[in-house]
Amino acid sequence: MSRRTSVGVPAAASARGARPDAPTSPSAQVADPPVADRTQVHTAAPATGVRPRGLYAIGEGAGGRVRVHHLREMKARGQAISAVTCYDATFARLVDAAGIEVVLVGDSLGNVIQGQETTLPVTVDHIVYHCAAVARGLQRAHLVADLPFMSYRNVDTGLLSAGRMLAEGWAHAVKLEGGVEVAPIVEALVQAGIPVMGHIGLTPQSIHAMGGHRIQGRGRAARERLLADAAALQEAGCYALVLEGIPALLAADISASLEIPTIGIGAGAGCDGQILVLYDLLGLNPTFKPKFLKRFADLGEVVGEALGRYRNEVQAGTFPAPEHTYSDPAVVPAPAEPALRSKA
Ligand code: KIV
Repeated sequence: MSRRTSVGVPAAASARGARPDAPTSPSAQVADPPVADRTQVHTAAPATGVRPRGLYAIGEGAGGRVRVHHLREMKARGQAISAVTCYDATFARLVDAAGIEVVLVGDSLGNVIQGQETTLPVTVDHIVYHCAAVARGLQRAHLVADLPFMSYRNVDTGLLSAGRMLAEGWAHAVKLEGGVEVAPIVEALVQAGIPVMGHIGLTPQSIHAMGGHRIQGRGRAARERLLADAAALQEAGCYALVLEGIPALLAADISASLEIPTIGIGAGAGCDGQILVLYDLLGLNPTFKPKFLKRFADLGEVVGEALGRYRNEVQAGTFPAPEHTYSDPAVVPAPAEPALRSKA
């Protein structure tokens, strides 16, 4: 949820070439001690690409990759799942090093990368392209690719789109929006060996049907519908469920009613995990201020300040300085003319 889901506000591998989930170096495979509860704090580690020891409760085994069963185990242990969206390899490295368990290449890229008003113009090709870039930056996190608008309207298109996400985008799972009505598609994907994350509540691909980005699940009938949607998606085989833009009490009730983990955005603290759009949580979009969003940094300001200094130094001629400049030892600059000769 980015500006596209401004609740209550108008819409405004590792080595190159290797599959990113190939086993990592032996130093990255050392088992970490288990951590019992959700009080565990993931300490941000430098983005060296090597998994630091002692920071993670899960992800043991082949290459330390977070798998779908780890997420269910986290729920069972009462350990909160952290998830963010991501769209490129540079941020993916930072996200992975910070210990975030789930990375979503969301169709929010239509808003934050492409500058679109809605997520509707996003295509399967767009998601595949960004997903492959993100996959190259991840060693540990579980990678989910969003199925965009109209890419899963029936079982055949759903299988084709989701298959491309795993085969070409190197995703580990796909996410799709909708409730009871998409259960047959979820079943077909799961039967084909494709893990599916559901997404209910405020579903931005239905912006026009919802009449804008509005909180969903208010009132008895809407509440019952969402509880039924959640149950149907679990029954169809979803391994996790995003709950977006719904009352906190309803999200807590849905979470308690399911065995699979819920990941909330604008759905309160009763979910089994939380997700935010990366650019929003980093403060890269200063004008986007929905109630659910907490900014964990003000990178918009940091970036603006750095660009201003760069421009000033270019204009003043102080950048590049000698330390940023290459020389060629074979070509020595001509010595300055002796002052005497110029006088002669
Ligand atoms: O597209 C997206 O980024 C999303 C998340 C915010 C859940 O769907």
